[in-house]
Amino acid sequence: MNTEPLLYTAEAFFDDPDFLISGWESLFPGHSGLNFEIGMGYGHFLAWLAPRFPAQAFVGVDIVSKVLRGAEQRLRRALASQARPNVCISKQDALMMLRELFPPASLDHLYILFPDPWFKERHEHRRILREDTLPLFASRLKTGGKLIFVTDDPPYGESALALLNASPLFDATAFPEIDVRTKYEKKWLQQAKPIQRLAYVRLPQAELPDTGHWRPCPCDLCLPLSDWQPAFFEALQQASYPLQFAHQGWYFKLHQPEVTPAGLSFPLVIAEPRSLAQHSRLLLQPDGQMRIAEGHWLPYLQRREQVMQALAAGLNHNLKEGAYAR
Ligand SMILES: C[S@@+](CC[C@H](N)C(=O)[O-])C[C@H]1O[C@@H](n2cnc3c(N)ncnc32)[C@H](O)[C@@H]1O
Repeated sequence: MNTEPLLYTAEAFFDDPDFLISGWESLFPGHSGLNFEIGMGYGHFLAWLAPRFPAQAFVGVDIVSKVLRGAEQRLRRALASQARPNVCISKQDALMMLRELFPPASLDHLYILFPDPWFKERHEHRRILREDTLPLFASRLKTGGKLIFVTDDPPYGESALALLNASPLFDATAFPEIDVRTKYEKKWLQQAKPIQRLAYVRLPQAELPDTGHWRPCPCDLCLPLSDWQPAFFEALQQASYPLQFAHQGWYFKLHQPEVTPAGLSFPLVIAEPRSLAQHSRLLLQPDGQMRIAEGHWLPYLQRREQVMQALAAGLNHNLKEGAYAR
């Protein structure tokens, strides 16, 4: 039985010097194609697909631990005869992973099979395929790369179809042969639900946001709070927690810090609109320098500087305004 790792923690990407330098090449040296499945559930699809294309690399993501453990077992069985698995799976938010870990024009296929439909109108903005995510999908796909989308929810299927047809970034193409039923597909077929299968090819497009400047930032950014006064250190120990503020489009929440010899160590929550919150730990030194605490990392691989600057500016502003003075 193959014992190579399949299930990767976020640390393996966001805090690994090899990954920061060589990206997916460090995990899959010499691979001939890169493919990503969003919300892969119990891994039925990847376990069917990956052994058929052993020279290609496959990455799957889900946010539920139990599901990932099930997928790991299924994939281990499916890849047992391979010297080195060509699949890695990870527990992360798909949009975060796509935005931060895949360079522009790196993907051959992006698979989204039976995504959560978010039936209620007020929850539609949580769907993975929506107007504002299409440019991201397109930018991460190579020209000629394919977006494969399958749903059992007719309103979601209709909205996906309308968005894709209206998009200058994609063109409809033939749906590939997929000879496997995922857990959800079996379930919906048993209930005779209609299933909509969409395949779109990424068109060449010069004007895409977020392309051409993929540059992972180092993990050890250290920034000063520009108006730092030693009294702020005291104020932060006395403040009522959590401290919450928004700055430059980012939302921050700092929880009660631990007082350590190196400084105040705050559990940190970071969010941006329409994405899942991310967790880290901030160390604020007595001299007003702040950085991510040792053993922790900031998952915004390419936007670390931006996040840290927004955090420093927001915290600095609040301290200067006396917001945490008792
Ligand atoms: C309805 S299930 C479909 C699973 C699988 N594709 C199948 O067909 O059996 C949707 C999956 O998407 C996952 N998911 C939901 N939001 C996600 C996100 N933001 N990032 C990654 N996975 C997500 C869920 O945990 C769930 O396993």
